Amino acid sequence: MTPPHENPGLRVWVADDAAAAAAHVADVVARFVNETERPVLGLATGRTPLAVYAKLAERRAASAVSFQNAVSFNLDEYVGLDARSPHSFAAYMRRHFVDATDVFSGNVHVPNGRAQDLAGEARAYEARIKAAGGIGLQLLSIGANGHIGFNEPGTPFDARTHVATLAPETLHANRGDLPDPPPRQALTMGIATILEARAIVLLATGAAKAEAVRACLEGEPDVACPASALQGHPDVLVVLDRGAASLLTRG
Ligand code: F6R
Repeated sequence: MTPPHENPGLRVWVADDAAAAAAHVADVVARFVNETERPVLGLATGRTPLAVYAKLAERRAASAVSFQNAVSFNLDEYVGLDARSPHSFAAYMRRHFVDATDVFSGNVHVPNGRAQDLAGEARAYEARIKAAGGIGLQLLSIGANGHIGFNEPGTPFDARTHVATLAPETLHANRGDLPDPPPRQALTMGIATILEARAIVLLATGAAKAEAVRACLEGEPDVACPASALQGHPDVLVVLDRGAASLLTRG
């Protein structure tokens, strides 16, 4: 794998604060959507991208972007949660993307965490991505333990969409958004699935993500930090605020 400092396709942008970082990512997404005939987005949930969705909604309201031709595929969904559950990522996407922009709800795909045959749903999800032409731009955030999607530490880099067991620290970090008892598993795009996106933009904000960002960008690529797999991708933009960038040493 090419070390990050030798991979010209991996760029890092450090913004003054979290709001500026999210605005920059929203610009990248809006530009991709505006300039692509049939944009296929890979989308993330969680706290970090909320500000990106808010900016995209603002741009939509100002007619500066339209998602009418866009198709999207979310990274993951909790196993056992119905799409109608307010805790599901499907509900998150309805709140922050479908209801906030002009995207057609039928074009917003989230894995079905209630499928009887989860392995079959994982295969079907991969097939739907392929049939759409593959993901053009993948939006990612990063867990404090280095996960991307729900590919927790130890996940092989060649994993495709699969059922993952959530790490205790992930359950702890997400406890405020989860029902009681919380789901223990998720259906997630694999690292190999994520790496097939033609371009990737990863947003990380806050000092709590600084160690994961350092391991992602400056550590040896290793399954201990799933995000370090991105070092081998030819087109990755990492957008950080000062807190998330605080442990980087290479300038
Ligand atoms: C969400 C996802 C996760 C989150 C990560 C960071 O769809 O796949 O990898 O991006 O857990 O979450 P936040 O942004 O809440 O810190």
